[in-house]
Amino acid sequence: MSVKINKKYIHGQWSSRWAFILAATGSAVGLGNIWKFPYITGENGGGAFVLVYLFCIAAIGVPIMMAEVMLGRAARQSPINALTTLAKQAGASKLWRLLGWMGVTAGFLILSYYSVIAGWTLAYVFRSASGAFSLVTADGVRSMFTGLVSDPERLLAWHTIFMVMTVVIIARGVRGGLEQAVRVLMPALFVLLLVLVGYAMNTDYFMAGVRFMFTPDFSALSAAGVLTALGHAFFTLSLGMGAIMIYGSYLPKDASIAVTSVTICLADTMVALLAGLAIFPIVFANGLEPGAGPSLIFQTLPLAFGQMPGGIFFGTLFFVLLLLAAWTSAISLLEPAVAWMVENHNVDRIMAASFLGLLTWLLGIVTIMSFSDWAFSFNFLGSDEPKTSGMFDVLDILTANIMLPVGGMLIAIFAGRVMSEKMTKQELGIRAPGAYALWAFLIRYVSPVLVLIVLLGLFGFFGFVAKLFGI
Ligand code: PFF
Repeated sequence: MSVKINKKYIHGQWSSRWAFILAATGSAVGLGNIWKFPYITGENGGGAFVLVYLFCIAAIGVPIMMAEVMLGRAARQSPINALTTLAKQAGASKLWRLLGWMGVTAGFLILSYYSVIAGWTLAYVFRSASGAFSLVTADGVRSMFTGLVSDPERLLAWHTIFMVMTVVIIARGVRGGLEQAVRVLMPALFVLLLVLVGYAMNTDYFMAGVRFMFTPDFSALSAAGVLTALGHAFFTLSLGMGAIMIYGSYLPKDASIAVTSVTICLADTMVALLAGLAIFPIVFANGLEPGAGPSLIFQTLPLAFGQMPGGIFFGTLFFVLLLLAAWTSAISLLEPAVAWMVENHNVDRIMAASFLGLLTWLLGIVTIMSFSDWAFSFNFLGSDEPKTSGMFDVLDILTANIMLPVGGMLIAIFAGRVMSEKMTKQELGIRAPGAYALWAFLIRYVSPVLVLIVLLGLFGFFGFVAKLFGI
């Protein structure tokens, strides 16, 4: 059966391949790299976690990123409609559209807490600019942080400002809004991270940081830690929910999907590793706890900025850039839902973005309260450290550790098994000998199987089977 795909670009198109790379890197590089990667590395014991994470990026992240870009570009529609059209074209079940729905839901849930954390960043821009970090002590930084997160009204104000910023850019559209924003920001963030690593190199504890990140100690890694590494590979690359798919749908036909995807994955990984190399030496130099959790960068970096010459300038610039990195990611979290509303409900981008932004804003209140009045603690499967921020942790685990990996696994199955080889070969347009075969192997066998194993392992499946057979 052949279904005609609507090739009219109702949302516009990137001006070049380079613009797509920047935008997708803008989506990938965000709080996940600079805020989350260091703290989950710290919580999961360092080296072994980093190794599993790097393996997941290479063996699962790269092929799935190629698959997402390909699906988007082949259908030129928002993820829900893209999956519906492509499934019809392949003669597969209509139910595949539910995968699009799961992605839109995941993006919405992630943005609701992402915006709150971006709000912390916004607050720290002003703190840094006002000189609040000058010669501050580790205790001083800690109470500054606790003061912020236990004040729901202040958090709500910052969360509101960030959501408005996000909605405004989305409302302006693909070229006018998104593309302009990422051109300067991404390179500037990279340079500033290098400056911070340079500072960390002079702390006497640089090698302690390097050892922590790169000496694998597998006894420090639990099953839940392995799932966190896998989930983070999806989260950091913006995979498994359609963000990269929608950006791929704006990609010009002649751009190479393989080259662009590998470039994005490399840039994202570099930023995360640099962030770790900047942060852990400061953690050790100040006797802080690497497993401090979500507050880690907010408790370490102010110490560094407070002591370095020109700290007010560098500190302010850093938090501004982090804010901007979060902004370009937040945009991509809402874009699939906005594009879907525009396609299916005959509303313009401004209406769609405002409505969905408002819903996200409301849900964000749950996260805000989870750091103060609604906090509770629970034990995540297989982990010995209780989680203590209640709904924030629930949302984080549900989205990053479950919805994104499951979404990614289904995308791999769709691209590798539902779509015909002829179609994927043509859309990917890989010319290097053997490269298509490698992609097909990874997407059919490696990525989905590994995700499944990790998920089953987490839910105690293997223990259950072993018991069943009396092993
Ligand atoms: N990749 C972003 C980060 O690392 O901060 C977060 C993110 C953006 C996740 C978009 C998922 C997504 F679709």
